[in-house]
Amino acid sequence: MDTRDSSRLNGATLLVGVCGGIAAYKCAGIVSALRQAGADVHVIMTESATRFVTPLTFQALSNNDVHTDMFAAGSTWDIAHIGLVRRSDMALLLNATANTLAKLAHGIADNLLTTAILATRRPVVIAPAMNTAMLEAAPTQANIAALQARGMEFVEPGAGFLACGEIGSGRLADEDDIVAAVQRVLARSRQLAGRRVVVTAGPTREFADPARFLSNPSSGRMGYALAAEAAARGAQVTLISGPTELRPPAGVEFVGVTSAREMHNAVLEHLPGVALFIGAAAVADFRPELVAAHKVKKDEADATLRLTRNPDIIADVAAARPPGCFIVGFAAESEDIEKHAREKLERKHLDLIVANRIGGNGSAFGASDAEAVLLWSSGGRKPLARAPKAALAGAILDHVDALRSGH
Ligand code: C5P
Repeated sequence: MDTRDSSRLNGATLLVGVCGGIAAYKCAGIVSALRQAGADVHVIMTESATRFVTPLTFQALSNNDVHTDMFAAGSTWDIAHIGLVRRSDMALLLNATANTLAKLAHGIADNLLTTAILATRRPVVIAPAMNTAMLEAAPTQANIAALQARGMEFVEPGAGFLACGEIGSGRLADEDDIVAAVQRVLARSRQLAGRRVVVTAGPTREFADPARFLSNPSSGRMGYALAAEAAARGAQVTLISGPTELRPPAGVEFVGVTSAREMHNAVLEHLPGVALFIGAAAVADFRPELVAAHKVKKDEADATLRLTRNPDIIADVAAARPPGCFIVGFAAESEDIEKHAREKLERKHLDLIVANRIGGNGSAFGASDAEAVLLWSSGGRKPLARAPKAALAGAILDHVDALRSGH
């Protein structure tokens, strides 16, 4: 791949961290390639990185000041880290050492680099480099897994001759692979820039009297993860949620509702101009026909609850589809999953449906992990392996992007 194409990262502001390891010298070439690809690169070095390569090298190659010291004279706290973090579109951590990975995994912010990465809400790409044994050590692997689970993207170290004399994995990935990862993550972070997205999440509660309701075990995790992921991709997100124990993701407009009818009203109110609607809520299909104003006493109840249908929110969204709006539904099924999901996709006029298993082992309801099958309107299917719901949310939005752009 030609890393010298000067338009690929045009207009992107990158925060590049460099850690202290022998591969620090290779980072100079990568910073140069990023700048040649059009990025505005701001380098932060750890103290030990400056023992391998001088800040002047990075300053010359990035054409920007290099930051090393949280308490440097002449710089203010704001400029030193929060200002840099705010202005950057993403962070790239080069030559990530076992030490810095451990700090990041545990939220330790004892230098400018770890402080800046902890403070960023933007995507983070990490290219580790270290001795094979250090890379394979259980704590390092656990720290990498923890950072991946939080959405940080790793550019796998390669295998080969290492400076320590060993031959094994731990070499900093190739420049082209790192630049390509930056480009991919940046494109993803802009996928929904300026677009309005509405996500429904959680269960609904259908009260029979002030003390009793019908509901289901939905935790809301899938919908909240999708809302967070859409926001991370630049969307203006409205999350319309039934009662859950989750905190709404940062940067998302939150509308709390209780019943299906309230959710229906809130959705229709927020629908104009929406480019992507995701119905991840487990909406109760029925509600009690009559709602008693006071708690029904044991002796006055005839133990029969008459139910009536709730509105089908997503079907109504499809019927009132704003121009160009893409509609994603969920199908939680306990048997014949794909058959029922495809039938639902067609009946409700959806573009894509995410089919999950509920009940028994591996149920998606309330769990933090899930597997799913994506089915879409032109007849395709794609299974998604069991993964944390945050990762699944990423895979679903990647697929929405692929379907919308026709590749
Ligand atoms: O028909 P079923 O409830 O199984 O369909 C599931 C899909 O429809 C989900 O995307 C869910 O959020 C949505 N739905 C809805 N309004 C309903 C029932 C389901 O939006 N009343």
